[in-house]
Amino acid sequence: MSMNIIISTTCLFLLILLLPLVSCTKNNQVYLIEFGQHINGEKTLHEIENTHHSYLLLVKETEEEARASLLYSYKHTFNGFAALLTPNEANNLSGMEGVVSVTKSQIKSYSLHTTRSWKFVGLDGPLDPFEEKSNETNSDLLAKAKYGQDIIVGMIDNGVWPDSKSFSDEGMGPVPQKWKGVCQNGTDFGSSKCNRKIIGARYYLQGYESLYGPLNEQEDYKSARDKDGHGTHTASIVAGRAVQNASALGGFARGTAIGGAPLARLAIYKACWPIKGKSKSDGNVCANIDMLKAIDDAIEDGVDVINLSIGYHNPLKYEDDVIARGALQAIRNNIVVVCSAGNSGPVASSLSNPAPWIITVGASTVDRTFLAPIKLANGTNIEGRSITPLYMENSLRPLVLASDVELAGIAANSSGYCLDNTLDPSKVKGKIVLCLRGQGGRVIKGLEAQRAGAIAFILGNNKAYANDVPSDPNFIPATAVNYENTLKLIQYIHSTPNPMAQLLPGRTVLDAKPAPSMAIFSSRGPNIIDPNILKPDITAPGVDILAAWTAEDGPTRMTFQDKRVVKYNIFSGTSMSCPHVSAAAVLLKARYPTWSPAAIRSALITSARSTDNTGNQMTDETGKSTTPFAMGSGHFNPKRASNPGLIYDASYNDYLLYLCNLNSTNIAYNCPNQDPEPFDLNYPSIQINKLNYTKTIKRTVTNVGRSKSVYKFIANPPKEFTIIATPSVLKFTHVGQKRNFVITVTGNREQLPNKSDSEKYYFGWYTWTDKHHVVRSPVAVSFQ
Ligand SMILES: *[C@@H]1O[C@H](CO)[C@@H](O)[C@H](O)[C@H]1NC(C)=O
Ligand SMILES: *[C@@H]1O[C@H](CO)[C@@H](O)[C@H](O)[C@H]1NC(C)=O
Ligand SMILES: *[C@@H]1O[C@H](CO)[C@@H](O)[C@H](O)[C@H]1NC(C)=O
Ligand SMILES: *[C@@H]1O[C@H](CO)[C@@H](O)[C@H](O)[C@H]1NC(C)=O
Ligand SMILES: *[C@@H]1O[C@H](CO)[C@@H](O)[C@H](O)[C@H]1NC(C)=O
Ligand SMILES: *[C@@H]1O[C@H](CO)[C@@H](O)[C@H](O)[C@H]1NC(C)=O
Ligand SMILES: *[C@@H]1O[C@H](CO)[C@@H](O)[C@H](O)[C@H]1NC(C)=O
Ligand SMILES: *[C@@H]1O[C@H](CO)[C@@H](O)[C@H](O)[C@H]1NC(C)=O
Ligand SMILES: *[C@@H]1O[C@H](CO)[C@@H](O)[C@H](O)[C@H]1NC(C)=O
Ligand SMILES: *[C@@H]1O[C@H](CO)[C@@H](O)[C@H](O)[C@H]1NC(C)=O
Repeated sequence: MSMNIIISTTCLFLLILLLPLVSCTKNNQVYLIEFGQHINGEKTLHEIENTHHSYLLLVKETEEEARASLLYSYKHTFNGFAALLTPNEANNLSGMEGVVSVTKSQIKSYSLHTTRSWKFVGLDGPLDPFEEKSNETNSDLLAKAKYGQDIIVGMIDNGVWPDSKSFSDEGMGPVPQKWKGVCQNGTDFGSSKCNRKIIGARYYLQGYESLYGPLNEQEDYKSARDKDGHGTHTASIVAGRAVQNASALGGFARGTAIGGAPLARLAIYKACWPIKGKSKSDGNVCANIDMLKAIDDAIEDGVDVINLSIGYHNPLKYEDDVIARGALQAIRNNIVVVCSAGNSGPVASSLSNPAPWIITVGASTVDRTFLAPIKLANGTNIEGRSITPLYMENSLRPLVLASDVELAGIAANSSGYCLDNTLDPSKVKGKIVLCLRGQGGRVIKGLEAQRAGAIAFILGNNKAYANDVPSDPNFIPATAVNYENTLKLIQYIHSTPNPMAQLLPGRTVLDAKPAPSMAIFSSRGPNIIDPNILKPDITAPGVDILAAWTAEDGPTRMTFQDKRVVKYNIFSGTSMSCPHVSAAAVLLKARYPTWSPAAIRSALITSARSTDNTGNQMTDETGKSTTPFAMGSGHFNPKRASNPGLIYDASYNDYLLYLCNLNSTNIAYNCPNQDPEPFDLNYPSIQINKLNYTKTIKRTVTNVGRSKSVYKFIANPPKEFTIIATPSVLKFTHVGQKRNFVITVTGNREQLPNKSDSEKYYFGWYTWTDKHHVVRSPVAVSFQ
């Protein structure tokens, strides 16, 4: 994977490193040792540790060595342990009775991924009942869900900045009794840092330190405190208290910053740490075994919802992905698991976290932009965007194209991008430089322009970035333009002997259209593990989101260069959209405590909208209609999700049966002789891979709406196939009643292109509707 990281507040790419393990002691490496089926439920962790220790005693020479080599014993997520072993010892363990597998652990790295976003999704009004002025209309869902006050959200990330006003516990009731977690003491995060908002905090270093050696305490706190900003930002999106008059650097996005479930409780599990010697924006690393232990503890501690940040980039099987497996055990404990789709878009099949027991979330824009236009000397204004709090004086200055003002000897393929040490100060001084986007970090280009003496810089999209215009907090006056406007600027520069321009100050603009629109970075389907499951599930606000920040890291996350301190920051990524959906899950769980994780996901998926605020189908960065491979069923809508009418439910056992079919027999046990088809998993969407003329698929819905109701079937297929349901009317006489139906998808042979392309998918929808609910499912089909 390219190490050419885009450093800025938007579009940080989900970095997945699959590094070979380097050990610090002997030839020891981290291994995961797995026994068979789960049997630990009743045992104490201490008993489990003793068992694991006894295995290690069989391969290690001394008692001390055995003790020291045991990194983690797992209870819920995984029947086994993590240990430092030599390849020889690992080999010997793998031959022992009861041991199912011994695998070298891998390390993963992730990078990333609110005032406006909640209003935008319809949860408007002061959302926090203790906020002043709380007599405005509160949204029904929030009030009925008691703002999430009984719900505990486990945040597995890089910690939290507990001193932010967003995590105040003022006015909050006592910690829910079911909570069994701890507030682990560490550097600058004593046990007293927890309160009735942040009710628990732990950190996990065993995996990280066995790979990289001891944590460099200059780079991060040896505690649950967040030095980087990411964990603080996402935690406040889920459950931040209302903080009025919050804004980013320079006053952008001013408004009330608030989480989606402002009274929900936060349990912080810090499992991600800085890559040694690299700037933060290169991503943090999260060792697998640390993540797994964090999930394990979250289950034991009693969380209700887990916001999970890590995913394998290229998983081939669910069983290779210990995180997917950990999540499955969370589901078994009735915990909702919400994960990001990743920031590797817009490439097809770039999606992570595709397991059907996870809610997989893409990222899209909100209807707020930060306009910072460019005034040309010929009188035309060009639209640009920026959240840079620095302005040019009120006068026109020479405008130059980077490729015209470079030092000699810059290779043609890196010309024009303002890469480090490429600009010629004698040609740049006092001018505005137009730098192309496509290579090199965005904010870094501004630093290069500054180095060469430019007074301002413009980031111009190349063709691939099209209309995806980022808003960055640069270090000199700056703005960014789309591809079309980049061409206009180049044309202008070449059309006149003295091109001149002025960057006008940026301002926050609401009700922008069209919105939402898919973010270019949001990872896309199809699902590479199982083409029978449509992913992502849903999209949510993930572009330019305002939320709380750490006091230890600048707004660009470039720790070493950016010394600016902000309390709130604007950031983008599927890491920002995921906690929006976590918050919605919190509210649904609070309102309907008996709903399963699958029921909550179904409510979210079938109530999502695929249109934008112009009434048209949602678009992506190209301006064209997007598809369910980017948006899932569409943009989440928590209010509608709280009254979904029908739900597609599924249990832990259904997932095991599903796994039997995928031959994942070391996760699923006691598989029946006749496995169900994987596409028969009762999922609220349908994907058919390589359809050979026709296929029938079973589904079951449960009535959670009105007791007496009649739902009719409506199909919206594309011309390439038809969708019918049998029966096509579902009658219910009471709540909780289930009805089965069969969906038949049939290809329209004459409509298919003559040259068959089994990679190409066609998309349609089907809907069940009574007068009050629209229960909609996307359908994706490819043909043989
Ligand atoms: C591992 O097994 C090999 C042969 O199976 C044996 O020679 C060796 O002593 C064993 N090592 C340990 C550490 O048990
Ligand atoms: C609160 O309610 C009172 C009485 O209905 C009204 O006068 C006042 O304007 C309200 N305040 C806000 C902030 O809505
Ligand atoms: C808490 O951790 C800090 C930093 O590691 C340490 O100095 C302090 O002694 C610890 N306090 C307790 C009560 O363990
Ligand atoms: C919001 O904060 C800014 C400065 O941060 C201040 O100038 C302004 O008066 C505040 N507005 C309100 C309504 O408190
Ligand atoms: C929540 O999940 C997202 C996406 O999976 C991740 O990027 C983010 O860091 C998580 N936030 C917290 C606080 O755990
Ligand atoms: C630019 O071209 C050179 C020589 O052909 C090649 O080695 C290099 O990888 C190219 N760089 C990029 C960023 O494409
Ligand atoms: C100014 O230049 C731009 C870019 O060449 C062009 O699109 C625009 O029409 C020009 N405006 C006027 C008033 O000539
Ligand atoms: C599972 O195994 C069976 C029998 O070996 C095989 O026919 C089938 O194709 C396998 N399924 C998958 C998804 O690998
Ligand atoms: C498609 O279905 C037809 C008729 O059912 C069958 O003859 C044919 O072998 C199938 N093709 C493939 C590739 O399975
Ligand atoms: C496929 O080819 C046939 C015969 O050449 C032609 O009549 C038909 O229109 C083509 N179908 C499509 C979708 O292009």
